Amino acid sequence: MSGEFKRLKGFADIYGSLGRAFSFMENKARDIFARYGYEELRTPILESTNLFQRSIGTETDVVKKEMFTFPDRKGRLVTLRPEATAGVLRACVEEGLAQPGNVSRFYSLGPMFRYERPQKGRMRQFHQINCECLGTDSPYADAEIICMLLSFLSSLSINNIQLKVNSLGCRNCRPAYLEKLGKWLNTLEHEKLCPDCRQRAVNNPLRVLDCKVESCKAILTDAPVLLENNCTDCRRHFDKVLELLTANGIDWNIDTNLVRGLDYYQRMTFEVASRNIGAQTAIAGGGRYDGLIQTLGGPDLPGIGFACGMERLALLIGEAEKKELDFYFLALDGNLQDNAFLLSEMLRSNGFSGEMNYRETSFKSAMRQAAKSAALYCIILGSDEALNNKITIKNMKTGEQQTILQADLIKVMKEFENKK
Ligand code: HAM
Repeated sequence: MSGEFKRLKGFADIYGSLGRAFSFMENKARDIFARYGYEELRTPILESTNLFQRSIGTETDVVKKEMFTFPDRKGRLVTLRPEATAGVLRACVEEGLAQPGNVSRFYSLGPMFRYERPQKGRMRQFHQINCECLGTDSPYADAEIICMLLSFLSSLSINNIQLKVNSLGCRNCRPAYLEKLGKWLNTLEHEKLCPDCRQRAVNNPLRVLDCKVESCKAILTDAPVLLENNCTDCRRHFDKVLELLTANGIDWNIDTNLVRGLDYYQRMTFEVASRNIGAQTAIAGGGRYDGLIQTLGGPDLPGIGFACGMERLALLIGEAEKKELDFYFLALDGNLQDNAFLLSEMLRSNGFSGEMNYRETSFKSAMRQAAKSAALYCIILGSDEALNNKITIKNMKTGEQQTILQADLIKVMKEFENKK
């Protein structure tokens, strides 16, 4: 269909099978996260630009190249959120939701916006399922949140995955490593690095480590290893998390170049990759961001979290079946439609799902309509039945039908349901 108005590139309408897959994922997420004591937090989609600059980091690709930023009517710069963590932490500070001495856990679901080159699994408006746990630096919290993420993925029957882990060090040990890395980078002929890495080497050297350009990757095999330069506390923390994961039967792979694309991470970082969805293999990623909330004006609290990309998960869970309706209510005479309307409402308030015919049509076209609705039963109300307070239920799969008293409708439908 050609119309005057078109979706923007990288934006999608979500409906049908994809819409059902989204609802399925959201329901599973709510169910699993509730088992771990997480509560929903919905934050605004639009925030002040400086929130993202401060938290994600001005030298990251997200902030430098990918944000949808524009002035509002008063000329203040605002940004469509590119991720959820910054908004969640802002809300925690503003609403006093994370207090020293307490552990607070929040999940958020919703659209995020990044101006990237769209491709399969990479959109400009995409959706994340995001979790944050604030107020503890215990390795048990790290292991727990990773287990929760993997339970969620497994509840979606997503299994062919790889968990990559790394430790980025902390404010005590990272500066010395960065100095070492900087010195090593200075020994290189910068022309051999890709143009992005030449810039990163000066502005954000850590990001050089996860460059995807093959020639850079080859050079970086000799770079000083971040994990080997972790302080004893960081290393102990990391080892304990891995020990807990192993004890829980979870496989992990250390990827010493996993630094993630956002600047706020410290210590434990992780990513889940799938082998089944082409180029965009990262289906979830996260890590620890101790102290980030303080840089946003809150208390000095540790935190850890992750986000999954729903479009990428949807590619893995495939077609979501449409749920069958229980009934299609067919009034054969226009005068009986009020009655059909009230009986349909009664069925729904008893837990059955269904549709009714809104307009009087021939029996044949009404039956076609009933078949199209793919309902399990067609409930037929004709004049004769109505005169005797009766009604007919037809099983649309077997063609069997029986006429019963209208007063028994719920009872009989429940009996059918129990036999299913
Ligand atoms: P992220 O790695 O930037 O982390 O994004 C998390 C996930 O969002 C990715 O693994 C991917 O599945 C999905 N994603 C990212 N960009 C796109 C895109 N353009 N199209 C489709 N899916 C995409 C974060 O956003 C962090 N805030 C996660 C976090 C929470 N860390 C701590 N707490």
